[in-house]
Amino acid sequence: MVTQSKRGRFIVLEGIDGAGKTTQAELLREYLEGQGRRVYRTAEPTPFPTGVALREALGGKVKKSECEMAVMFVLDRIAHNIHPTDGIRAILDGGQDIICDRYYYSTLAYQGHSTSYEWVRSMNLGCPEITRPDICIYLDLTPEQSLDRISRGRESVEIYENKETLERVRGAFFRVFDDLGKTDNIAVLDAYRSPEEIAADIARLVDLL
Ligand code: TYD
Repeated sequence: MVTQSKRGRFIVLEGIDGAGKTTQAELLREYLEGQGRRVYRTAEPTPFPTGVALREALGGKVKKSECEMAVMFVLDRIAHNIHPTDGIRAILDGGQDIICDRYYYSTLAYQGHSTSYEWVRSMNLGCPEITRPDICIYLDLTPEQSLDRISRGRESVEIYENKETLERVRGAFFRVFDDLGKTDNIAVLDAYRSPEEIAADIARLVDLL
């Protein structure tokens, strides 16, 4: 029997569209469960009311300013952390590993770019109720690789998924990783490979935690 360490491990997956976050989250879950660990998959925006409000704003149903969006992502992240039963803190304390699709790296990359990076950074990293992940794994695709994947997977490419946008977002993520490289455990993986190859790299990284 594999002994479950006391506190679970908090693993974040990040990446631009088409990078394969969902596939890798599922493969990692299978890998960890195969080791006898209990795994909790989650994502941001959350299904909590704060996340529902974000989805409405992202879908254009409700108009919000860029600064409002930044604060809403932080609010959703706090709710995600402190929910008494389904919150990140409670789940980790209960000994389960967490695989989270997107976290504050996304806010720093997207809202840090559209508002003030320093402000967004301090709201997230300075907040005592926002847990630091044990690792952030960034699935890296160039914009060309991303568009290639999207066009093969979907009927129509959505308007915001153009090359310039993808380039800008990727650049923003790399600036975040340069900034947080000393304080956070960040791994950038080439995501333009087979799911099995990527999963093997992720398993190796997670085994080191
Ligand atoms: P997501 O559900 O991951 O959508 P997708 O599968 O299309 O990537 O995230 C929804 C959108 O929210 C996505 O475009 C990225 C954006 N987002 C931010 O701008 N800031 C954040 O902090 C997060 C978590 C997401």
